[in-house]
Amino acid sequence: MCNLKEQYYLIEPAMEDEEAMKLLFTKWKDFGGRMNPGLLKRYNNDYRKWLQCIEDWHKGVNIGENVPQTLFFLKNREGTILGATSLRHYLNHTNIVDGGHVAYGICPQYRGCGYGKLILDLALKKLSEMGIEKTLVTCDTDNIGSQKVILYNGGVLENQTYDEDGISINRYWIDN
Ligand SMILES: CC(C)(COP(=O)(O)OP(=O)(O)OC[C@H]1O[C@@H](n2cnc3c(N)ncnc32)[C@H](O)[C@@H]1OP(=O)(O)O)[C@@H](O)C(=O)NCCC(=O)NCCS
Repeated sequence: MCNLKEQYYLIEPAMEDEEAMKLLFTKWKDFGGRMNPGLLKRYNNDYRKWLQCIEDWHKGVNIGENVPQTLFFLKNREGTILGATSLRHYLNHTNIVDGGHVAYGICPQYRGCGYGKLILDLALKKLSEMGIEKTLVTCDTDNIGSQKVILYNGGVLENQTYDEDGISINRYWIDN
């Protein structure tokens, strides 16, 4: 299952991903745990509607005070979706504390193969293309897997703080 010699890329969701997204959502939900990026959780069995929602977030339409963000799937050369990442276009008073520039997750069945490290690496390259030179990444203090992914990609811990639910989070900066 693990084959990091393949080619991988980030690509925005498209109509052709409908079946794959259905499968991803069901498997992830059955597995339980964090579904990250949060935009995945907005899927509600209507793929067309979800795609519109993703497009709105990309354009900053109907998102209230939130910061626009762009969602990408991580795919291999066969087009299998291995995970997803969402890139926030800038920091505001909320995500500078918790959330940062980037959220990512690997589908439960593909974890432990190095894809977590890979998806953050590819996300940092995209952020750099967007003109962001210093990336803020945050994660729950108890999320050891994510901490390892961040440190592997050059994360430097700035501090530990608490989110609005009182959960301890670590804040890291990475020079792109
Ligand atoms: C965190 C996550 C992205 C890691 O993905 P992954 O593909 O398993 O990561 P990798 O295979 O690249 O592993 C990176 C390192 O973390 C370790 N690791 C992964 N999951 C772990 C876990 N649950 N507990 C402890 N260590 C873990 C790996 O062993 C590896 O360690 P190493 O560098 O010493 O070899 C994945 O577990 C996930 O999607 N979690 C749910 C969403 C989430 O928490 N996203 C991050 C939000 S900030």
